[in-house]
Amino acid sequence: MYRKICLSFAAVALSTALLAAPAFSKPTVIKFSHVVAENTPKGQMANKFRDLVKERLAGKVEVEVYPNSQLFGDNKVLEAMLLGDVQMAAPALSKYSRYTKKLQLFDLPFLFADMASVDRFQQSDKGKALLNSISEKGLIGLGYLHNGMKQLSSSKPLKVPADAKGLKFRIMSSDVLAAQFKAVHATPLKKPFSEVFTLLQTKAIDGQENTWSNIYSKKFFEVQPFITESNHGLLDYMVVTSIEFWDGLPQDVRLEVKKALDEAIAFGNKVAAEKSLADKQKIIDSKRSEIISLNADERTQWVEVMKPVWKEFEGEVGKDLIEAAYNSNQ
Ligand code: LMR
Repeated sequence: MYRKICLSFAAVALSTALLAAPAFSKPTVIKFSHVVAENTPKGQMANKFRDLVKERLAGKVEVEVYPNSQLFGDNKVLEAMLLGDVQMAAPALSKYSRYTKKLQLFDLPFLFADMASVDRFQQSDKGKALLNSISEKGLIGLGYLHNGMKQLSSSKPLKVPADAKGLKFRIMSSDVLAAQFKAVHATPLKKPFSEVFTLLQTKAIDGQENTWSNIYSKKFFEVQPFITESNHGLLDYMVVTSIEFWDGLPQDVRLEVKKALDEAIAFGNKVAAEKSLADKQKIIDSKRSEIISLNADERTQWVEVMKPVWKEFEGEVGKDLIEAAYNSNQ
């Protein structure tokens, strides 16, 4: 009899322990992979997200950040996400074309006048809807993050489009960007971000396009004697996760993670605005690159040569979307 009571006590104790087990179970790990340096808008946003999650969801969720293409380059990261090898990333909007053609919108040259216009469009209904443009492929956009406007760096001074003729430019994996460089009779080469410095240093390519913070943090300015302040295109990101992972999180946890992410994105956007000024100034101060400004007439020449690219992609992107984005300029 005594033995029987002991056994049933033991059974109760065991099942109580099992019920309480989640409290002792391992936290859900979010591997956040990106390709840029830590002292960039995306690098700072990812670190902020990790810290906020640590503060608010300790023991439940843990964010591990892998910068500088340490874990995956942008050409592999979305596949890896679908396989569950990484849970979050924020590739440039230019890098989603295997998943949707709609996001090509953001690559159209001279579409947005400034970052305020980008914000207006991204926060509009049409802009927000694009976060779901990859859902059929099992991925979901959790928010946009800014970097800023792109500049043209080169081994030669670029004042007018004819100066770019015959030069080789590294581009992200985007057909719109390829068309943009073909429009000025240059040769575009799709290459991963991690290879750009060496390609420039060894003169395998002549130039590239990027934001002030990427040109500064990856030291492109040290191997590019000229940077034209063209502001001709946008480099922005979409923070992405897999629907399977996202829907698998308990609802209360998912809401907290999303809140932390929204705050981290707001912080990253502030960093982006600051860095587009500060990193430009650091490059000027270094005296390694000459910054070339365009006068109104020179700028018009670039716009006129590159703008026909819009028509070329109107079918894939959608005329209504292009118009809505353009109308966000005030
Ligand atoms: C690039 O490949 O130039 C950018 O997408 C890098 C980045 O993530 O800012």
